[in-house]
Formats: sequence, C-alpha cells, structure tokens
Amino acid sequence: MSFANKVVIVTGASSGIGAATALMFAKEGANVALVARTQAKLAAVAKHVEALGRKALVIQADLSKEADTATVISKTIKYYGKLDVLVNNAGMASEGCLLDGKALQAYDDVMKTNVRAVIQLTSLAAPYLIQTKGNVVNVSSVAEMITCKIPTTFMLYAVSKAALGHFTRCAALELALSGVRVNSVSPGPVENEFITNNKLGNADDLLGKLVGFTAVGYIAKNDEIGRVILFLASDEARSITGSTYIIDNGCLLK
Ligand SMILES: NC(=O)c1ccc[n+]([C@@H]2O[C@H](COP(=O)([O-])OP(=O)(O)OC[C@H]3O[C@@H](n4cnc5c(N)ncnc54)[C@H](OP(=O)(O)O)[C@@H]3O)[C@@H](O)[C@H]2O)c1
Repeated sequence: MSFANKVVIVTGASSGIGAATALMFAKEGANVALVARTQAKLAAVAKHVEALGRKALVIQADLSKEADTATVISKTIKYYGKLDVLVNNAGMASEGCLLDGKALQAYDDVMKTNVRAVIQLTSLAAPYLIQTKGNVVNVSSVAEMITCKIPTTFMLYAVSKAALGHFTRCAALELALSGVRVNSVSPGPVENEFITNNKLGNADDLLGKLVGFTAVGYIAKNDEIGRVILFLASDEARSITGSTYIIDNGCLLK
C-alpha cells in the first residue's frame, strides 16, 4: 500500500487512532497535515513523521468552530498544492440524556465536532479530491449500530455516529461519478485515551468492562484501526465506496 507523494489530512491526529494513522501513512510515503486542538501533542507527532523523512504540516484548529475548520483545507492546499486523502477521525463524546436535562447540550456538542465539521471539511475538500481522484475515510463507531452497550448518558454520541454513517453513504453517492470514494470505519472499543480524554470514567475499570463487550475478549489497538483506514484509502480499495468497515472484535455478535 504505497502512498508515496500523496497528501493526507488526518483530523484528531494529536492522539489515539489519528496519531497512529498519520504515522502509518507517513511510513507508506505520504506527506501529512495533522489537525487537532493541542499544539504540543501535534508537534510531537510531527517530529515522528519528519523522522521518517516525510513532511508534516501542523494545523491547530478547534473543529467545533466553523472558522477554525475552514482553515484546514486552505492551509493544506497552500502548503502542499493538492489533497489526496481526507481522514475525518477527530471525535468526542458528551454526557447528556433525556431525563438529566442535558440532552440538547450534549447533542450540540457532539454534532459540531463529530458531524458538522466532517460535512464542512468534506465539502471544502471535494473540489481538490476530484482533481486527484482521491477519497475520504470517516471514523465512526459501532455505537452507530447498537444501543445496548452504550451507556444511556452517552446516547447522543451514538446518534452523532449514526448521522456520520449515513453522511458517508450520501456523500459517496454524490461524489461517485466524480471519481471520489467515501467510506467509514466503525471500531468497537479501542485501547487508547478516548476514555480519559472524554471523562467517561475510570480507565482501568472501563477497559475491563469493554473487553467483556467483545466476543473474542480483546480490545483493538490504534494501529489495527489505522491499517483498515489505510486499506480503504488505498488503490486496493478502488471498488469500495459508501461502505462501513466494522472492526470490533465481535462486539456486534453479542
Ligand atoms: N477509542 C475508542 O474506543 C473508539 C471506538 C470507536 C470509535 N472511536 C472514534 O475514533 C476517533 C478517534 O478517537 P480516539 O479513539 O483516537 O480517541 P482520542 O485519543 O481521544 O482522539 C480524539 C482526537 O480528536 C481530537 N479532537 C477532539 N475534539 C476536537 C475538536 N473540537 N477539534 C479538533 N480536534 C478534536 C483530539 O485532539 P485534541 O484534544 O488535541 O483536540 C484527538 O486527537 C473518534 O472519532 C472516536 O469517536 C473511538
């Protein structure tokens, strides 16, 4: 899977799946644009990319803000002159449900980052992706397909991922005849900082519980999700568009 001389934007590249995926693209020859809010963590990932002999453009942006999000594509094009792959990976969870009075706030929070920013970025990227016959990979979650393992207080996270899944299919249809593919990856639980970053509870307690959600008793690592993202972004997946690739260690089987 060579990405030699390709330009890849990875949002949420400061940690977890995004950081691992950006490095994997760089290992395969891509130059990357790394997007997130935390400058220091982005700079650390950029150092690793540069150590591989690839270029890394750090774009500090809060994707919940339309003005910040608008800069991502323009800065990438200004620096690299083209775009081949957009990985919409940044995501967050927010607590709120019908009976705690926080549902609307949680809805606004999750939709801004997990869906609205993805729509904005995809829309701004589309003209450039058409030029390169590039593609988009969105990072969703198995939460888009189930209710039973999602704590009620995080229902709006699941709702946002369901919206992202359907956006993937609709965008794939709109861009199909322009030669741009759009797919998504739906991980089950992944061993990384998502739990602590989103204050979902005690990481050790929760990780044990999440292992029990899987059929195989194992939780995926960041690079296992990255591998699927790279496959979907590669020419080897040229016949795949509008698809959701589940990588959940059998969560949906139970
Ligand atoms: N971990 C899991 O179990 C799991 C399972 C299924 C799906 N996912 C999905 O995987 C994706 C990546 O998450 P992860 O697991 O790698 O967790 P993570 O380590 O918490 O990564 C989330 C990334 O998103 C960025 N981000 C969050 N809000 C942002 C904002 N407003 N603007 C810009 N960047 C923002 C964070 O960077 P900054 O904080 O520096 O901005 C960070 O780089 C998410 O979409 C998540 O929903 C995760």
